[in-house]
Amino acid sequence: MKISQRVSGVEYAIRDIALEARKLQKEGRQITYLNIGDPLQYGFQPPENVKQALSRAVKEGQNYYAASEGLPELRDAIAKKEKAKGLQVSEDDILVTNGVSEGLEMITASIVEPGDEVLIPGPYYPPYASYVRLFGGKPIEFSVDLQNSTPDLDDIRSKITKKTVAICLISPNNPTGAVFSEKSLKDLIDIANEHNLYIICDEIYDQIVFDEKFTGIGKVCGDSPVILLNGFSKVHLMSGWRIGYIAFNQSNKLELLRENVPKLARVRIATNLPVQYAALESLQGPQDYINKFVFDLKRRRDYTIKRLNGMNGISCSNPKGAFYAFPKIENNKFKSDKEFVIELLKSKGVLTVHGSGFGVKYGTGHFRMVFLPEIPVLEQALDKIEEFVA
Ligand SMILES: Cc1ncc(COP(=O)(O)O)c(C=O)c1O
Repeated sequence: MKISQRVSGVEYAIRDIALEARKLQKEGRQITYLNIGDPLQYGFQPPENVKQALSRAVKEGQNYYAASEGLPELRDAIAKKEKAKGLQVSEDDILVTNGVSEGLEMITASIVEPGDEVLIPGPYYPPYASYVRLFGGKPIEFSVDLQNSTPDLDDIRSKITKKTVAICLISPNNPTGAVFSEKSLKDLIDIANEHNLYIICDEIYDQIVFDEKFTGIGKVCGDSPVILLNGFSKVHLMSGWRIGYIAFNQSNKLELLRENVPKLARVRIATNLPVQYAALESLQGPQDYINKFVFDLKRRRDYTIKRLNGMNGISCSNPKGAFYAFPKIENNKFKSDKEFVIELLKSKGVLTVHGSGFGVKYGTGHFRMVFLPEIPVLEQALDKIEEFVA
C-alpha cells in the first residue's frame, strides 16, 4: 500500500549504516562500533544518585501522566541552569521534551512551511535536514572554517533568500566538534536579526569542551528570537531515558511560537515522569562526574587526532568539543566515502559513518568516528584504520 513521499525520503546515516554491521555480526564477525554518539555504550553511566532518583520516583508512585510542559520543579531547575549560561528565561519559558530530537521536531513543525528554507551548519547533524524536509522545507548548508571553528558569514549572507525562516546553530557541533566563539555567535545573531529570522541553537554538548571556555548563545542574544534546544543525553549521561527541553528566549517575536508549540506537547501528552525526577537530581546533585568525563574524553580526543593525522592520506581538524572526529580522506580510492566506510567495515570490522551522511556539500570525502571508547580499544581500531588506508 502507498506511503507518503515525505516519509520515504527520511534518512539517518548514523543508524542506517549499522544495518551493514549487523549483517556481518550475524555471520560471526567481531565489530568495533565507532558510529553512535552514545557515551553509555562505551562504559559511562549516570551517577548513582541519579539512578536512585529514577527508581525512587517509580517506587513512590510517580508513574502517571505528567503535565505536558513538564514537571514544574524540573522546569525551574532547567531555567536556572540556562540563566547561569546567560539566557533570560524562567520556568514558564521551558518545555520538557522526549530528547532534543522531539524538541527539534516540534520547532521545525511549528515554523517550516512547504518551500521555506532553513540555514544549517555544514556538515550537519542529520535530523536537522531530515525534519526540515519532512515538513516540506529545504535545508541550506552554510560553510564553517573547521581550523578555527568560525562560521563563514559571507556565505550565510549570500544564502539568505525571501524564503529563509531560520538559522540553526549547533555548538559544540556534531560531527565536527566546532565550538563557536562569543564573537561568532554575536555576528550570527546580528545577521538573523537583520533578516528577521528565528535562531535555533542546539547546546546539547555545552559542558563537553576541551580547549577554550564555552559561550552559550544566551550570553549574546539579548531579546532576539532564540529557541534553545538542550538535553540530558550527553553531558548528563541519560541517553536511553530520552529527555531534553526547549527554552524560549524572552523575545516578543516568539509570542506565537510560545502559544502554539505547547499544543504539540499536549497532543503527545507528556514526557516520562520518573525520568524527569532523575533529570532534576542530575541538575541539583553533585556535578563532579562531568569533570571526570570530560577529562577522559580529552585524553581520548588527543590520542585519536594525533593518530589520525599520523596516517598517510588522512587529515583531521582538532574537535574543540563533543566526542567526534571528522577526518578527511585525502585520496579516496573508492567510488565514494560510503564505499570507503563499508570496505573498512568489511575488511577490518570497524564501523564509522560516511561523511556524506552529514551533508553532500561539506560532508563528502570524510568519515565520522566517535572517540568514546577507552584508549586500548581506540588504539586497536585506529591500527586497523591505519592498515586499511595504507
Ligand atoms: C547535535 C545533537 N542534537 C541532538 C542530539 C539528540 O539528542 P537527544 O538524545 O536529546 O534526542 C544529538 C545526538 O547525537 C546531537 O548530536
